[in-house]
Amino acid sequence: MFKALEFIDDKLKFIDQTKLPVVEEYIISDNYERIAEAIERLEIRGAPAIGVAAAYALAFSVKDHNENLKDKFEIAYKRLAATRPTAVNLFWALNEIKNLFDINNPETQYQILIEKAKAVHLDDIEKCDNIGKNGLQIFQKKSVVLTHCNAGALATGGEGTAVNVIKEAFKNGLVEFVYVDETRPLFQGSRLTAFELEKSGIPFSIITDSTAAFVMQQKKIDLVVTGADRIAANGDSANKIGTYGLAVLCKHHNIPFYIAAPTSTIDSKCKSGGEIKIELRGKEEIIKFKNEQISNGNYEVYSPAFDVTPAELINGIITEEKLHKPEFKF
Ligand code: MRU
Repeated sequence: MFKALEFIDDKLKFIDQTKLPVVEEYIISDNYERIAEAIERLEIRGAPAIGVAAAYALAFSVKDHNENLKDKFEIAYKRLAATRPTAVNLFWALNEIKNLFDINNPETQYQILIEKAKAVHLDDIEKCDNIGKNGLQIFQKKSVVLTHCNAGALATGGEGTAVNVIKEAFKNGLVEFVYVDETRPLFQGSRLTAFELEKSGIPFSIITDSTAAFVMQQKKIDLVVTGADRIAANGDSANKIGTYGLAVLCKHHNIPFYIAAPTSTIDSKCKSGGEIKIELRGKEEIIKFKNEQISNGNYEVYSPAFDVTPAELINGIITEEKLHKPEFKF
Protein backbone atom coordinates (compact mmCIF):
# COMPACT_ATOMS: atom_id res chain seq x y z
CA MET A 1 0.00 0.00 0.00
CA PHE A 2 1.24 3.49 -0.81
CA LYS A 3 2.13 6.11 1.80
CA ALA A 4 1.54 9.74 0.85
CA LEU A 5 4.06 10.98 3.43
CA GLU A 6 6.84 9.04 5.12
CA PHE A 7 9.74 10.16 7.29
CA ILE A 8 12.61 7.99 6.20
CA ASP A 9 16.40 8.31 6.63
CA ASP A 10 15.94 11.78 8.11
CA LYS A 11 14.09 13.00 5.01
CA LEU A 12 10.50 13.33 3.84
CA LYS A 13 9.40 10.88 1.18
CA PHE A 14 6.23 11.90 -0.63
CA ILE A 15 4.23 10.71 -3.57
CA ASP A 16 3.87 13.24 -6.41
CA GLN A 17 0.08 13.53 -6.50
CA THR A 18 0.04 15.54 -9.72
CA LYS A 19 1.07 12.37 -11.60
CA LEU A 20 -1.40 9.94 -10.02
CA PRO A 21 -2.94 7.58 -10.91
CA VAL A 22 -0.94 7.16 -14.12
CA VAL A 23 2.52 7.30 -12.54
CA GLU A 24 3.34 6.43 -8.91
CA GLU A 25 6.46 8.51 -8.37
CA TYR A 26 8.10 9.33 -5.04
CA ILE A 27 10.25 12.34 -4.17
CA ILE A 28 12.66 12.38 -1.23
CA SER A 29 13.77 15.70 0.21
CA ASP A 30 14.90 17.46 3.35
CA ASN A 31 14.88 20.85 1.65
CA TYR A 32 12.12 23.09 3.00
CA GLU A 33 11.98 25.11 -0.20
CA ARG A 34 11.38 21.94 -2.26
CA ILE A 35 8.60 20.92 0.14
CA ALA A 36 7.07 24.42 -0.04
CA GLU A 37 7.05 24.12 -3.84
CA ALA A 38 5.47 20.66 -3.57
CA ILE A 39 2.64 22.12 -1.48
CA GLU A 40 2.14 25.01 -3.92
CA ARG A 41 2.08 22.68 -6.93
CA LEU A 42 -0.25 20.23 -5.15
CA GLU A 43 2.29 17.41 -5.29
CA ILE A 44 1.42 17.34 -1.60
CA ARG A 45 -2.16 18.40 -0.95
CA GLY A 46 -5.14 17.94 1.36
CA ALA A 47 -5.36 19.98 4.57
CA PRO A 48 -3.85 17.53 7.11
CA ALA A 49 -1.12 16.33 4.70
CA ILE A 50 -0.12 19.93 4.02
CA GLY A 51 0.19 20.48 7.78
CA VAL A 52 2.29 17.34 8.37
CA ALA A 53 4.61 18.08 5.43
CA ALA A 54 5.04 21.70 6.53
CA ALA A 55 5.93 20.59 10.07
CA TYR A 56 8.74 18.39 8.71
CA ALA A 57 9.84 21.13 6.32
CA LEU A 58 10.10 23.74 9.07
CA ALA A 59 12.18 21.35 11.19
CA PHE A 60 14.45 20.70 8.16
CA SER A 61 15.13 24.43 7.91
CA VAL A 62 17.42 24.17 10.97
CA LYS A 63 18.95 20.82 10.08
CA ASP A 64 22.37 21.93 8.87
CA HIS A 65 22.65 25.39 10.33
CA ASN A 66 24.21 26.78 13.42
CA GLU A 67 24.61 30.39 12.35
CA ASN A 68 21.76 32.87 11.94
CA LEU A 69 19.46 30.11 13.04
CA LYS A 70 16.66 32.44 14.06
CA ASP A 71 16.66 34.34 10.75
CA LYS A 72 16.74 31.11 8.75
CA PHE A 73 13.92 29.64 10.79
CA GLU A 74 11.77 32.76 10.39
CA ILE A 75 12.34 32.90 6.63
CA ALA A 76 11.35 29.23 6.34
CA TYR A 77 8.26 29.79 8.51
CA LYS A 78 7.10 32.69 6.31
CA ARG A 79 7.81 30.80 3.09
CA LEU A 80 5.84 27.75 4.21
CA ALA A 81 2.97 29.83 5.61
CA ALA A 82 2.65 31.56 2.22
CA THR A 83 2.15 28.33 0.24
CA ARG A 84 -1.63 27.93 0.56
CA PRO A 85 -4.00 30.15 2.55
CA THR A 86 -7.19 28.20 3.21
CA ALA A 87 -6.31 25.00 5.10
CA VAL A 88 -5.82 25.99 8.73
CA ASN A 89 -3.89 22.76 9.41
CA LEU A 90 -0.88 24.38 7.74
CA PHE A 91 -0.76 27.22 10.27
CA TRP A 92 -1.64 24.94 13.16
CA ALA A 93 1.24 22.56 12.35
CA LEU A 94 3.75 25.37 11.70
CA ASN A 95 2.90 26.87 15.08
CA GLU A 96 3.30 23.51 16.82
CA ILE A 97 6.93 23.57 15.59
CA LYS A 98 7.46 27.30 16.12
CA ASN A 99 6.37 27.08 19.77
CA LEU A 100 9.32 24.78 20.46
CA PHE A 101 11.93 26.84 18.66
CA ASP A 102 14.55 28.05 21.10
CA ILE A 103 17.44 30.15 19.83
CA ASN A 104 19.48 29.36 22.93
CA ASN A 105 19.88 25.71 21.99
CA PRO A 106 21.22 25.65 18.41
CA GLU A 107 22.86 22.22 18.73
CA THR A 108 19.72 20.41 19.84
CA GLN A 109 17.24 22.45 17.80
CA TYR A 110 16.87 20.11 14.84
CA GLN A 111 16.38 17.02 16.98
CA ILE A 112 13.73 18.70 19.12
CA LEU A 113 11.84 20.08 16.13
CA ILE A 114 11.98 16.91 14.06
CA GLU A 115 10.67 14.90 17.01
CA LYS A 116 7.77 17.33 17.21
CA ALA A 117 7.12 16.99 13.46
CA LYS A 118 7.04 13.21 13.88
CA ALA A 119 4.57 13.66 16.75
CA VAL A 120 2.36 15.89 14.55
CA HIS A 121 2.42 13.12 11.93
CA LEU A 122 1.63 10.37 14.44
CA ASP A 123 -1.15 12.47 15.91
CA ASP A 124 -2.71 12.81 12.46
CA ILE A 125 -2.54 9.04 11.91
CA GLU A 126 -4.40 8.47 15.20
CA LYS A 127 -6.95 11.18 14.43
CA CYS A 128 -7.71 9.60 11.04
CA ASP A 129 -8.25 6.20 12.69
CA ASN A 130 -10.69 7.67 15.19
CA ILE A 131 -12.53 9.70 12.54
CA GLY A 132 -13.04 6.46 10.62
CA LYS A 133 -14.49 4.77 13.69
CA ASN A 134 -16.66 7.73 14.73
CA GLY A 135 -17.99 7.99 11.18
CA LEU A 136 -19.73 4.62 11.45
CA GLN A 137 -22.56 6.40 13.30
CA ILE A 138 -23.74 8.19 10.17
CA PHE A 139 -24.77 4.92 8.49
CA GLN A 140 -28.33 3.73 9.18
CA LYS A 141 -28.05 0.88 6.63
CA LYS A 142 -25.82 -0.38 3.82
CA SER A 143 -25.49 2.85 1.85
CA VAL A 144 -24.54 4.44 -1.42
CA VAL A 145 -22.24 7.36 -0.68
CA LEU A 146 -21.13 10.34 -2.70
CA THR A 147 -17.86 12.14 -1.97
CA HIS A 148 -16.07 15.13 -3.47
CA CYS A 149 -12.37 15.88 -3.98
CA ASN A 150 -9.97 13.64 -2.05
CA ALA A 151 -10.02 13.40 1.73
CA GLY A 152 -8.21 10.08 1.95
CA ALA A 153 -4.78 8.69 2.73
CA LEU A 154 -3.31 10.97 0.07
CA ALA A 155 -4.70 14.03 1.83
CA THR A 156 -3.55 13.21 5.36
CA GLY A 157 -0.68 11.70 7.33
CA GLY A 158 -2.88 8.65 8.02
CA GLU A 159 -5.75 6.82 6.36
CA GLY A 160 -7.86 9.88 5.59
CA THR A 161 -10.93 11.64 6.90
CA ALA A 162 -14.05 11.36 4.69
CA VAL A 163 -12.52 8.54 2.65
CA ASN A 164 -11.52 6.74 5.84
CA VAL A 165 -15.13 6.98 7.03
CA ILE A 166 -16.07 5.26 3.76
CA LYS A 167 -13.29 2.65 4.13
CA GLU A 168 -14.25 1.80 7.73
CA ALA A 169 -17.93 1.61 6.85
CA PHE A 170 -17.13 -0.63 3.88
CA LYS A 171 -15.17 -2.97 6.16
CA ASN A 172 -18.25 -3.09 8.41
CA GLY A 173 -20.60 -3.92 5.54
CA LEU A 174 -22.17 -0.45 5.54
CA VAL A 175 -21.10 0.82 2.12
CA GLU A 176 -22.54 -0.65 -1.04
CA PHE A 177 -21.16 1.76 -3.62
CA VAL A 178 -19.46 5.14 -3.92
CA TYR A 179 -20.04 7.92 -6.45
CA VAL A 180 -16.85 9.95 -6.82
CA ASP A 181 -17.16 13.51 -8.08
CA GLU A 182 -14.51 14.16 -10.70
CA THR A 183 -13.69 17.48 -8.94
CA ARG A 184 -12.81 20.02 -11.57
CA PRO A 185 -10.41 21.57 -12.33
CA LEU A 186 -7.64 19.38 -10.83
CA PHE A 187 -9.53 16.07 -10.72
CA GLN A 188 -8.70 15.07 -7.15
CA GLY A 189 -11.79 12.83 -7.24
CA SER A 190 -11.31 11.00 -10.55
CA ARG A 191 -7.53 10.72 -10.09
CA LEU A 192 -6.94 10.37 -6.34
CA THR A 193 -10.10 9.17 -4.57
CA ALA A 194 -10.68 6.67 -7.37
CA PHE A 195 -7.06 5.45 -6.95
CA GLU A 196 -7.60 4.95 -3.22
CA LEU A 197 -10.97 3.25 -3.49
CA GLU A 198 -9.60 0.89 -6.10
CA LYS A 199 -6.70 -0.04 -3.78
CA SER A 200 -9.24 -0.71 -1.00
CA GLY A 201 -11.46 -2.83 -3.22
CA ILE A 202 -14.46 -0.51 -2.81
CA PRO A 203 -16.81 -0.41 -5.83
CA PHE A 204 -17.24 3.08 -7.30
CA SER A 205 -18.14 5.16 -10.32
CA ILE A 206 -16.62 8.47 -11.23
CA ILE A 207 -19.19 11.11 -12.16
CA THR A 208 -18.64 14.57 -13.53
CA ASP A 209 -19.39 17.24 -10.93
CA SER A 210 -22.51 18.28 -12.82
CA THR A 211 -23.91 14.71 -12.63
CA ALA A 212 -24.35 14.88 -8.84
CA ALA A 213 -27.81 16.51 -9.06
CA PHE A 214 -29.06 13.85 -11.46
CA VAL A 215 -27.90 10.87 -9.37
CA MET A 216 -29.57 12.44 -6.35
CA GLN A 217 -32.79 12.97 -8.30
CA GLN A 218 -32.61 9.32 -9.33
CA LYS A 219 -32.53 8.48 -5.59
CA LYS A 220 -29.19 6.75 -5.93
CA ILE A 221 -27.47 8.52 -3.01
CA ASP A 222 -28.07 7.79 0.70
CA LEU A 223 -25.53 10.23 2.12
CA VAL A 224 -22.70 12.60 1.21
CA VAL A 225 -19.46 12.92 3.17
CA THR A 226 -16.55 15.25 2.38
CA GLY A 227 -13.47 16.61 4.12
CA ALA A 228 -12.81 20.22 5.10
CA ASP A 229 -9.94 22.70 4.97
CA ARG A 230 -11.13 25.03 7.70
CA ILE A 231 -14.13 24.86 10.01
CA ALA A 232 -15.28 28.06 11.67
CA ALA A 233 -16.51 28.24 15.29
CA ASN A 234 -20.13 28.10 14.11
CA GLY A 235 -19.54 25.04 11.90
CA ASP A 236 -19.36 26.83 8.53
CA SER A 237 -16.91 24.66 6.60
CA ALA A 238 -14.54 25.49 3.73
CA ASN A 239 -13.77 22.63 1.39
CA LYS A 240 -12.99 22.04 -2.27
CA ILE A 241 -14.99 24.17 -4.69
CA GLY A 242 -18.27 22.42 -5.42
CA THR A 243 -18.86 21.19 -1.87
CA TYR A 244 -21.35 23.98 -1.13
CA GLY A 245 -23.31 23.11 -4.25
CA LEU A 246 -23.49 19.48 -3.12
CA ALA A 247 -24.80 20.52 0.30
CA VAL A 248 -27.52 22.63 -1.33
CA LEU A 249 -28.46 19.66 -3.52
CA CYS A 250 -28.58 17.41 -0.44
CA LYS A 251 -30.99 19.82 1.26
CA HIS A 252 -33.27 19.80 -1.80
CA HIS A 253 -33.21 16.00 -2.06
CA ASN A 254 -33.39 15.36 1.69
CA ILE A 255 -30.02 13.59 1.77
CA PRO A 256 -27.81 13.93 4.87
CA PHE A 257 -24.59 15.86 4.30
CA TYR A 258 -21.57 15.28 6.58
CA ILE A 259 -18.11 16.73 7.01
CA ALA A 260 -15.23 14.65 8.40
CA ALA A 261 -12.13 16.43 9.68
CA PRO A 262 -9.62 16.38 12.53
CA THR A 263 -9.90 19.02 15.25
CA SER A 264 -6.74 20.60 13.76
CA THR A 265 -9.04 21.75 10.91
CA ILE A 266 -11.22 23.69 13.34
CA ASP A 267 -10.37 27.37 13.60
CA SER A 268 -12.33 28.57 16.59
CA LYS A 269 -10.81 32.04 16.24
CA CYS A 270 -12.73 32.31 13.00
CA LYS A 271 -16.33 33.10 13.97
CA SER A 272 -17.99 32.21 10.68
CA GLY A 273 -17.26 31.20 7.10
CA GLY A 274 -17.14 34.78 5.86
CA GLU A 275 -13.79 35.17 7.63
CA ILE A 276 -12.15 32.24 5.82
CA LYS A 277 -9.62 33.25 3.20
CA ILE A 278 -10.35 31.44 -0.05
CA GLU A 279 -7.42 30.60 -2.32
CA LEU A 280 -7.73 31.76 -5.93
CA ARG A 281 -6.01 29.58 -8.54
CA GLY A 282 -4.41 30.66 -11.81
CA LYS A 283 -6.30 30.73 -15.09
CA GLU A 284 -4.04 28.16 -16.78
CA GLU A 285 -5.71 25.38 -14.76
CA ILE A 286 -8.98 26.20 -16.56
CA ILE A 287 -7.78 27.45 -19.94
CA LYS A 288 -5.38 24.57 -20.45
CA PHE A 289 -5.69 20.84 -20.07
CA LYS A 290 -2.40 18.97 -19.62
CA ASN A 291 -0.59 21.99 -21.08
CA GLU A 292 -2.82 21.93 -24.10
CA GLN A 293 -4.83 25.08 -24.81
CA ILE A 294 -8.57 24.31 -24.58
CA SER A 295 -9.91 27.84 -24.34
CA ASN A 296 -8.84 31.31 -25.42
CA GLY A 297 -5.91 32.39 -23.24
CA ASN A 298 -7.22 35.98 -23.30
CA TYR A 299 -10.45 35.08 -21.52
CA GLU A 300 -10.84 36.10 -17.90
CA VAL A 301 -11.13 33.23 -15.40
CA TYR A 302 -12.41 33.18 -11.82
CA SER A 303 -11.15 30.06 -10.06
CA PRO A 304 -11.64 29.85 -6.29
CA ALA A 305 -10.13 26.59 -5.00
CA PHE A 306 -12.63 26.31 -2.13
CA ASP A 307 -16.12 27.33 -1.11
CA VAL A 308 -17.85 27.57 2.24
CA THR A 309 -20.79 25.37 3.20
CA PRO A 310 -22.96 27.11 5.80
CA ALA A 311 -23.41 25.16 9.04
CA GLU A 312 -27.19 25.01 8.53
CA LEU A 313 -26.64 22.63 5.58
CA ILE A 314 -24.41 20.24 7.57
CA ASN A 315 -26.02 17.31 9.38
CA GLY A 316 -22.91 16.41 11.35
CA ILE A 317 -19.17 17.03 11.67
CA ILE A 318 -17.15 13.89 12.38
CA THR A 319 -13.92 14.55 14.28
CA GLU A 320 -11.56 12.22 16.13
CA GLU A 321 -13.49 13.15 19.29
CA LYS A 322 -17.05 12.42 18.22
CA LEU A 323 -19.84 13.07 15.77
CA HIS A 324 -20.74 16.71 16.41
CA LYS A 325 -24.39 17.51 15.75
CA PRO A 326 -25.91 20.94 15.07
CA GLU A 327 -25.90 23.52 16.41
CA PHE A 328 -22.14 23.54 16.21
CA LYS A 329 -20.06 25.50 18.68
CA PHE A 330 -16.31 25.01 18.51
O1 MRU B 1 -6.78 21.72 -3.19
P1 MRU B 1 -6.68 20.47 -2.38
O2 MRU B 1 -6.58 19.23 -3.21
O3 MRU B 1 -5.60 20.55 -1.32
O4 MRU B 1 -8.08 20.40 -1.62
C1 MRU B 1 -8.30 19.36 -0.73
C2 MRU B 1 -9.66 19.35 -0.14
O5 MRU B 1 -10.48 20.20 -0.39
C3 MRU B 1 -9.93 18.27 0.87
O6 MRU B 1 -11.27 17.90 0.86
C4 MRU B 1 -9.58 18.79 2.27
O7 MRU B 1 -8.29 19.33 2.29
C5 MRU B 1 -9.68 17.74 3.30
S1 MRU B 1 -8.42 16.53 3.16
C6 MRU B 1 -8.58 15.42 4.42
